[in-house]
Amino acid sequence: MSTQPVLQLPPLSLYVHMPWCVVKCPYCDFNSHALKGELPETAYIEALLSDLELDLPHVWGRVVHSVFIGGGTPSLFSAQHIETLLSGIRARLPLSPNAEITMEANPGTVEHDRFEAYRQAGINRVSLGIQSLNTEHLKTLGRIHDADEAHKAIEAVKAAGFERINLDLMWALPEQTIDEMLADLEGVLAYETGHVSHYQLTIEPNTVFAAKPPALPDAELAWEMSEAAADRFRAKGYGPYEISAWAKPSHLSQHNLNYWRFGDYIGIGAGAHGKVTLPAEQTIVRTRRKMIPHSYLAAAETQEFIAERVTVEPKDRAFEFFLNRLRLAEPIAWSDFESLTGLHRGHIQSPLEKAQSLGLVELTDSHIVRTPMGARYLNDLQQLFLD
Ligand SMILES: C[S@@+](CC[C@H](N)C(=O)[O-])C[C@H]1O[C@@H](n2cnc3c(N)ncnc32)[C@H](O)[C@@H]1O
Ligand code: SF4
Repeated sequence: MSTQPVLQLPPLSLYVHMPWCVVKCPYCDFNSHALKGELPETAYIEALLSDLELDLPHVWGRVVHSVFIGGGTPSLFSAQHIETLLSGIRARLPLSPNAEITMEANPGTVEHDRFEAYRQAGINRVSLGIQSLNTEHLKTLGRIHDADEAHKAIEAVKAAGFERINLDLMWALPEQTIDEMLADLEGVLAYETGHVSHYQLTIEPNTVFAAKPPALPDAELAWEMSEAAADRFRAKGYGPYEISAWAKPSHLSQHNLNYWRFGDYIGIGAGAHGKVTLPAEQTIVRTRRKMIPHSYLAAAETQEFIAERVTVEPKDRAFEFFLNRLRLAEPIAWSDFESLTGLHRGHIQSPLEKAQSLGLVELTDSHIVRTPMGARYLNDLQQLFLD
């Protein structure tokens, strides 16, 4: 038997969670809360920076390659506060000179000159939650914007000079037809942003939709929709580099790629998750911050932002690696599996043989390759790696 592989450091990213929204959408199970009263902008940014400081000893000397400010609705925060946040981050951590710095924005929350100010604050990529360009569907989804505001928001982001833009669309919406889905897709593709996240609407536990499920397209119609959408994306030069993310070659999201490649990330803000490799101890540590915004803010007094810190046991690493990595279309090098999990490839021989016999992966001397069937039955494929 060859020697045990050594855990090596993957690239490092930073995720910042902003937990407030104007209203809570009925399908959403993210840690987001309808804002009641005034947004505690200054207090929250101060809490985020103190929170970040507590993680610094674990990532000493490492360069951060991407930052993602997500939510919730980060665009509720003014450009001035986003600038304070970014300069605070730069003062505490070395950011790579060409770091991708993304902010999510919600079309219903931004007056148009604000995007220019976000760009000047240091944001270089915007992810807009368009969801649909059909006002009726937007109403069903409980969104605060209509089709006209969605178009105006995309135009404003483009006019502000952003070159890297993602548009989020959801599909298989209540009562949606294939033609309506395709009209949404054509509408966003016409803006030539180079990146579209195309999420099938799922009914998540503990949401308003779970309590009162709307009528969704059945499995057959959903499959036809995904095939029709894939044809349109391909015709426009977009590839499915991740299960729900389509991009032109130079527009892949570096931040999301790092998650899916089982990279490391610090996660700060209410409910944020982090994952950091500690080579000296040969361990991987996961953290989760306090979820409820006021508990998180109150933690600024005691500096106890972290609700949970756990070591990822070797027996769980293979599943965690494949849960992320199999979302990507790119083949998986055996050497990446070994250096990112610290496990020998023999550890996954049995689930891989099963996956191969089911036609879900192909194996070469250097790589594990997910097949089209593996992409279609991704959940089943991932489950094979559960210890
Ligand atoms: C955290 S949200 C952030 C964007 C921003 N808050 C907004 O909604 O405009 C990220 C994206 O996840 C998608 N999403 C959220 N809940 C979903 C669900 N139940 N099914 C499918 N997609 C979902 C939406 O497209 C949403 O834009
Ligand atoms: S705006 Fe975005 S994060 Fe907020 S509730 Fe709606 S989908 Fe969730």
